[in-house]
Amino acid sequence: MVPGIAPQAAATIAAKDMESAMTKLQFNAFESPMGGEVVDFDAKAAFDDDTYGEFKRLLRERIVVVVRDQHDMTPDQLEVFTRRFGGIKRMHLAQYQLDGHPEIWVISNIVENGKPLGLKLAGTMWHTDEMYLENPVSYTFLLGKEVPPAGGDTLFANMYAAYDALPESTKAEIDDLRVVVSRVHAYQAYYPDREPLTADEKAALPEVTQPLVRVHPETGRKALYCGGGEVAWNIVGAELLKGQSLLRELRHFATMPRFVYTHEWRTGDLVFWDNRCSLHSATLFDTEKYRRLAWRTTVLGEAAIPVTREAAE
Ligand SMILES: [Fe+2]
Repeated sequence: MVPGIAPQAAATIAAKDMESAMTKLQFNAFESPMGGEVVDFDAKAAFDDDTYGEFKRLLRERIVVVVRDQHDMTPDQLEVFTRRFGGIKRMHLAQYQLDGHPEIWVISNIVENGKPLGLKLAGTMWHTDEMYLENPVSYTFLLGKEVPPAGGDTLFANMYAAYDALPESTKAEIDDLRVVVSRVHAYQAYYPDREPLTADEKAALPEVTQPLVRVHPETGRKALYCGGGEVAWNIVGAELLKGQSLLRELRHFATMPRFVYTHEWRTGDLVFWDNRCSLHSATLFDTEKYRRLAWRTTVLGEAAIPVTREAAE
């Protein structure tokens, strides 16, 4: 697969167009296939509908938005900010919830009084958040309260650009395919040494299928929705090895550096992104040497729209 677009050039044009239209937010597009930063903005205060509209436009056009310097944002303020973009999904693992805030998930390697503050490492492989839900989450918000001075970057890949860059023959081949998404399979793959799941535990983790190419409900653009890790693990109706090899090939292609933005965290960064058109991956850091504390919220999403439905409308 040798794609023929120049994402760098496309990003520069989009950024220029946006700058001229911006009235409320001071936004700097990154020199990368996606992402940009908002500076001199207080996300802790209420903001008007025009500003909300600009945030939404930045999400549509740049997928990842970084609001700098939200150092003293409180959990309540993070929840209020998140709710501007839709209903918040309650964190399903109680041990990682922030005390008194079940809608905030704590990611941290800090241990206080013998108790871990949160999940030490999360999402250290390419994935899109909660693809295993019938209605996967749309946006994820991550607030860096403490960040390590080295390592711990978050990688993002632009799934619009990856899809657009595929050869036409590949697009035709994959447009109508669906992906089998199974947390039961992922559990067995990640934890082969653990006790197998019981029938009740398996029943609580139902398998779903998702379109391999999804049409974004706001932009109408097609994005690869190949997922990652062992969760999205086969193609519906495909022989296992063929399905897995197609997914592997697509992920390898879609996460090449030309489609990727690497976020190097600064303390106080509030980073949020659209899961419907991107993959992301955490990277490791020295958890013995450095501390990290991040709060995460997610916004409820809708069923993924397959290409066929768009064509039928
Ligand atoms: Fe994630």
